[in-house]
Amino acid sequence: MKNKKTFYITTPIYYPNDVPHLGHAYTTIAADVLARWHKLLGEEVFLLTGTDEHGKKIAKAAERAGKKPKEFTDSLIPEFKRAWKILNIDYDRFIRTTDREHEKTVQEIIEKVFKSGDIYKGTYEGLYCTDCEAYYTEKDSLNLQCPIHKRQLETLKEESYFFKLSKYQSFLLDLYKKNPEFISPSYRRQEIINRVKGGLRDFSVSRTSFDWGIQLPFDKKHYAYVWFDALINYISGVGYLDKKKQFNKFWPADIHLIGKDILWFHSVYWPAMLKSAGIEMPKKIFAHGFLTIQNEKMGKSAGNAINVGDLVSYAGSDPARYFLLRSTPFGDDGDFSKEALIDRHNNELANKLGNLVSRVSALAEKYGLEKTALKTLDSERIVKKVAGHLDNLEFDKALNEIFSFVDKCNEFIQAKKPWETHDSKVLYESGNAIKDISILLFPFMPETSEKIARTFNFEIELGELKKPLKVSKIKKSEILFERI
Ligand code: MSP
Repeated sequence: MKNKKTFYITTPIYYPNDVPHLGHAYTTIAADVLARWHKLLGEEVFLLTGTDEHGKKIAKAAERAGKKPKEFTDSLIPEFKRAWKILNIDYDRFIRTTDREHEKTVQEIIEKVFKSGDIYKGTYEGLYCTDCEAYYTEKDSLNLQCPIHKRQLETLKEESYFFKLSKYQSFLLDLYKKNPEFISPSYRRQEIINRVKGGLRDFSVSRTSFDWGIQLPFDKKHYAYVWFDALINYISGVGYLDKKKQFNKFWPADIHLIGKDILWFHSVYWPAMLKSAGIEMPKKIFAHGFLTIQNEKMGKSAGNAINVGDLVSYAGSDPARYFLLRSTPFGDDGDFSKEALIDRHNNELANKLGNLVSRVSALAEKYGLEKTALKTLDSERIVKKVAGHLDNLEFDKALNEIFSFVDKCNEFIQAKKPWETHDSKVLYESGNAIKDISILLFPFMPETSEKIARTFNFEIELGELKKPLKVSKIKKSEILFERI
């Protein structure tokens, strides 16, 4: 039997220092949409998400909460899992960096890199931002403040092991050149290339001034730098150590989906680490923009975070998923506002899609469906376009395409007036188009899509796009979207 094509996609692992907000949900929803789409395409999919639990940032947050770090993260993990559940995120594994297998993998990789001669002992003297968990040079700081968090940087001086990143400059430049999509979208690639061309400094991979982390196997005084630990989740989470067969099936990852703030770690540190350990490169790193509120990045530090639970109880899971991907090209920053959400919810979901489904199903209940060749509402072109857009992670364009087709269906019905003519062929043609719309919408709005499939009696499979709708007894659909 021929092996199925595989698709391995990851989200960043989130810092569990508070309940998840929409900024975290943004990447996770996008990853879920792609995972569902590739499942529809008949591929074997693995979606990995999880939490990044070690390091000073978490240790400090735990201390503020009056808890031990592990006790603290244990109390927040259910919040992440609950958020992903209410958003219908169909992940295959939730990895925690405190999982035993992950810790063992990190130690094994560090050992390997050490043996390959890429780790050496020295002293780190310089600036650090605990909120970013990142080292800064004076030049990259804003008057010794973190350019992202606008807080005073810490001055560190401690014994540390370093990773020979400088050795990988030409390897990296070559990697970017040979794989133009390795860093996507393309407008973010040049910035990384310029910085890499400007020269790479070895980076510190261990610290001695805290102990909430993974010990280096060859020097127990040292704890792994949290990014060295975290990045390795992408291989440990799919079974590098404990499920070799699964690992070999899915690695290299097809896409690491991340926010633009952590592109450097993913496109420079990570490939160099993998190369040093003799592991194949991932295929693509896609960095999206930020969700903002009045043009300021949503986040805990800014104090403007909207909790996943709050949005879902207000708008519902499918509308939340829809809205976050509908409004802005995925690479760009996009402003979130409740008004814009209500507007799209009422106009696009309730009025356009909801009305189409309720109208056609109500008329079909009365006058039935009668099979006919499709004349006006052929979806073939739309399907191709949507597939192309999803290949390029252009979620907004894919949805735009689908909703133009919804408009076309509404215009068709308006023109044909089946409530006067009782023309069951018109209803058949419309029902068939609704089937195709619903299958294409499945990755974005799985609950809605399943409701429509129950009303019109079809399966949510890509093959059904080519099959004509079955003629069956239809019952008026429940209301899909209550106007807000
Ligand atoms: N733990 C690291 C990632 C390690 S991956 C090996 C981390 N965690 S984080 O919780 O701070 O951020 C995780 C992701 O959420 C990042 O990709 C970040 O860009 C994203 N977002 C956090 N706030 C965001 C917005 N307001 N908008 C969009 N995404 C943002 O970094």
